[in-house]
Amino acid sequence: MGNCWGAEVKTESPSPIVFASGRNCKHGSKKGTVLSASSRRVSSSSAPQTPGSEGEILSSSKPKSFTFSELRTATRNFRPDSVLGEGGFGAVFKGWIDEHTFAAAKPGTGLVIAVKKLNQESFQGHREWMTEVNYLSQLSHPNLVRLIGYCLEDEQRLLVYEFMPRGSLENHLFRRSPHYHLLSWSLRMKIALGGARGLAFLHSDKAKVIYRDFKTSNVLLDSNYNAKLSDFGLAKDGPSGSRSHVSTRVMGTYGYAAPEYLSTGHLTAKSDVYSFGVVLVELLTGQRAIDNNRPSEEHNLVEWAKPYLANKRRVIGIMDSRLQGRYSVAGAQRTAGLALQCLCMQAKRRPSMDQLVVALEQLQEAKDVERTPKTEPKSSGHRGGGRARTPRRNISVNGKVARPSPLRA
Ligand SMILES: Nc1ncnc2c1ncn2[C@@H]1O[C@H](COP(=O)(O)OP(=O)(O)OP(=O)(O)O)[C@@H](O)[C@H]1O
Ligand SMILES: [Mg+2]
Repeated sequence: MGNCWGAEVKTESPSPIVFASGRNCKHGSKKGTVLSASSRRVSSSSAPQTPGSEGEILSSSKPKSFTFSELRTATRNFRPDSVLGEGGFGAVFKGWIDEHTFAAAKPGTGLVIAVKKLNQESFQGHREWMTEVNYLSQLSHPNLVRLIGYCLEDEQRLLVYEFMPRGSLENHLFRRSPHYHLLSWSLRMKIALGGARGLAFLHSDKAKVIYRDFKTSNVLLDSNYNAKLSDFGLAKDGPSGSRSHVSTRVMGTYGYAAPEYLSTGHLTAKSDVYSFGVVLVELLTGQRAIDNNRPSEEHNLVEWAKPYLANKRRVIGIMDSRLQGRYSVAGAQRTAGLALQCLCMQAKRRPSMDQLVVALEQLQEAKDVERTPKTEPKSSGHRGGGRARTPRRNISVNGKVARPSPLRA
């Protein structure tokens, strides 16, 4: 994991990309017929799994097929006051089901669920809905959100997940509300490690999946701040045989997508590593990947922060000022170093997620995970962020992807 800072500076801007719209296909709408047998290679060729072991391909997992009426009852008719959040493809509602029968239950009883209801007009939404059911039906890991079921009925597309009581990392890092306490340094590191483990599992030979949408809003937190990845709508099987990458149209979220993927459409596991690096910088600085409320040279967090990350002393100057110095200086410097490696312009020189898991585990074990330095570090221009809108996937309703502006390294 060498430092590749020097190699990054001269990289050229990405060239223009032509995006496919993919709007002409029709999709079936027969209730309950999701994705018959999956076309993915996973279960038959993978080694036998011990049920319940950490990180496995489920060959027998069957998320339940819910009727629309069941989910309407479970969410009390999709009550606006039970909305947990809203993304590019629709709103997510809180609901309740019986933990044994999965029938709708009274609010406050049984199993709490999160129901994502896709906007009906989006073809892209349907495709992503299918991809998500496909992947999450087969992959199980403590750091991936569990898909409890789905609903495919006429025009309705819904996904039913385990409820994650602490919501998204995005809300904790950037929302200004009494509901969200400041995330301590050690929790940030715990969440980073959880996210890294989730990605490492996806990249492992067991799964061989490229996630393609790693960002703070897709990292959900359970009551103990264990991180779980959600949103598998953009996930892709990794390259097979001797191929080094998957060629695909460019999808994702501006600010998080790797530059070589944006410019060539060549997707590798290292694209996820880049996105992970962006989130590490967000954890360090408490600032969003893209924030147009900042001065123009700071709109893109990574471009702005890179020179600071490369310098051990200057890193302290860009740390989230709300931490008020309560973090391990050595830990922050090491994390900045990892982020810089993840953000290397040469994808091959980025570390693997396995390497990052090891490095982050070592950081957790370090004795000075969180301490108050004797002197308050100087803050360099951090304004606390938080006013910007969430970076959403660059997908418009007509299925096209907005062309991201070139990254200036
Ligand atoms: N299983 C869940 N438990 C609790 N809250 C959830 C769950 N799933 C989603 N949410 C909340 O709903 C919000 C919206 O999620 P969603 O995945 O639809 O959009 P997003 O990730 O914010 O944006 P994008 O459309 O780019 O994916 C999340 O940010 C989170 O706060
Ligand atoms: Mg999401």
